[in-house]
Amino acid sequence: MCGIVGYIGDRNATEILLDGLRRLEYRGYDSAGVAILGKGEFNIVRAEGKLQALEKKIRQKPPRGTLGIGHTRWATHGRPSETNAHPHKAGPVVLVHNGIIENHLKLRAYLVKKGHTIKSETDTELVCHLIQQRMYDGLSMAEAFRKALSELEGSYALVVLNQKEPDRLYVSRRGSPLVVGLGEGENFVASDVPAVLPYTRKVLFLEDGDFGVLTRAGLDLRDAEGKPVRRPTRQITWSQAMAEKGGYKHFMLKEIFEQPRSVADTLTGRIAENRQRVLLNGAEKLFGTNGSFPFDKIYIVACGTSYHAGLVGKYLIEEMARLPVMVDHASEFRYRNPIVDRRTLVVAISQSGETADTLAAVGDMKKEGARILSVCNVIDSSLARISHQTLYTHAGPEIGVASTKAFTTQLVALMLLAFHLGRVRRTLAPAAAKEALEALVRVPEQVERLLKNHAEVERLAKKYADCPNFLYFGRGVNFPIALEGALKLKEISYIHAEGYPAGEMKHGPIALIDSGMPVVVLAPQDKTYEKVLSNIEEVKARGAHVIAVGTQGDKHLAEKSEHFITIPKAPWYITPLLTAVPLQLLAYYIADHKGTDVDQPRNLAKSVTVE
Ligand code: M6R
Repeated sequence: MCGIVGYIGDRNATEILLDGLRRLEYRGYDSAGVAILGKGEFNIVRAEGKLQALEKKIRQKPPRGTLGIGHTRWATHGRPSETNAHPHKAGPVVLVHNGIIENHLKLRAYLVKKGHTIKSETDTELVCHLIQQRMYDGLSMAEAFRKALSELEGSYALVVLNQKEPDRLYVSRRGSPLVVGLGEGENFVASDVPAVLPYTRKVLFLEDGDFGVLTRAGLDLRDAEGKPVRRPTRQITWSQAMAEKGGYKHFMLKEIFEQPRSVADTLTGRIAENRQRVLLNGAEKLFGTNGSFPFDKIYIVACGTSYHAGLVGKYLIEEMARLPVMVDHASEFRYRNPIVDRRTLVVAISQSGETADTLAAVGDMKKEGARILSVCNVIDSSLARISHQTLYTHAGPEIGVASTKAFTTQLVALMLLAFHLGRVRRTLAPAAAKEALEALVRVPEQVERLLKNHAEVERLAKKYADCPNFLYFGRGVNFPIALEGALKLKEISYIHAEGYPAGEMKHGPIALIDSGMPVVVLAPQDKTYEKVLSNIEEVKARGAHVIAVGTQGDKHLAEKSEHFITIPKAPWYITPLLTAVPLQLLAYYIADHKGTDVDQPRNLAKSVTVE
């Protein structure tokens, strides 16, 4: 996601901020900026694109000062542009922000009514104006900041400067990380450790609700209740490269562990009215307002992992909205002659939004009159630009070539879409929609719990890492997860793996099973559960090692399988989000044990921009 750096000391702040931002580049961004306070005035320089663009502008007229904040923005609200880049300013207040402010529409309306002129499309600028408004109301800067924080819904890491207070930075976090680097006569703040590592290894991590004033001398920190609080300082021993990965060995592992946060971010601001209604950021406009539903069918097009998300989407939309859904590899779709017209909705799924086949398929279908809804992670990507509407997944930048958090957030976006369509078409009762949305809200915590079992999956991975072949079986909504589990394993460990619908086993793949072959079976307690148990018997009878992924407390499955990985109890439509996680871990630990290049596997690229 975005990167934050702040500095207060005696050195040239511009250099330190630029250096810090460079060290956060791995997080991905599409614009950048700095604000330096010198001689009682702010000098703000911002630029769209990479840091070189910002550096070029800075070189023309370098800002001078020893207090400043810098930011790399990865667009969430509003396109990547200089106007939307941080820092933002309102009167004497300048700030940078990571996170998503959920009640931004309400805040914008309130501030405009109060006479504020909002220049950008961002949620961040609103925070700036809100602080200014509270100062107009008669509060001090510190009080205004705290009051504004209490009015924000959503997540944030904020670093704020006041033109009239050249001796301090205000800091606070809720849901987005913020770390303070403690130096001698100088201090630093950043969204991630690498930005401060060249200057100090003594750091302190803020906790949710913390609010602090950072001066040259130190940090005055308060907790959510306003009581003075001390957080432990830590001595960082990681190398720069390790720090970029947050202490994880690989980006892929870091991204797997980020999923509780990324799933929560996908849900942010999308569930309203006491968990009874889905908000799709404008995409709902596609489905008409006069009661007559404008589409007869849906085509989902995507590649690779995004295609697997699309397959899950088919099960969900057909069940919830009773609408026919066809899913195609974009590379096949574009060379077929599919029956597409104005009553066709094309849902294009792509993490990067730059996949050549998906873009070409969408371009062709648009010409035929189809409406295009994309599910995409990268704001303002090519796919988002050619789509009529986009549902952003807000997973944050994914650096590992093997897609993990982008996949689970695609699943969340498709679940929201399915529930919304179910309500629009009245095929999903309000009570059922509420139950579904409540189940979805529980997922971040459930994924957190799943990840705590990583050591168990790691043990299994070591046991089977030398096997030359793996089979993955699933049924119903978990069949695509079997495909995804197999894809994850083959792309990073180079082990041959096949995913199959379990019911298809007897029609061919069973011939592959011989003594000692690991077979991963997804068996949550849904309507195909009994059938899957029979499949397990058949596999066992041929000498396979069964690794079952099933519902916590399922003694029957535990007895039947050689290894049992549990997922929390959840409705059938939520289970793909839970079964996917241990399969990601299994693939990761096997690849790591084999010593392959996990983050950049051979022959693969993160964005496949050629056919
Ligand atoms: O950016 P996209 O979602 O369009 O990418 C599609 C595939 O190239 C991608 O999912 C690929 O299969 C990944 N390597 C899977 O881990």
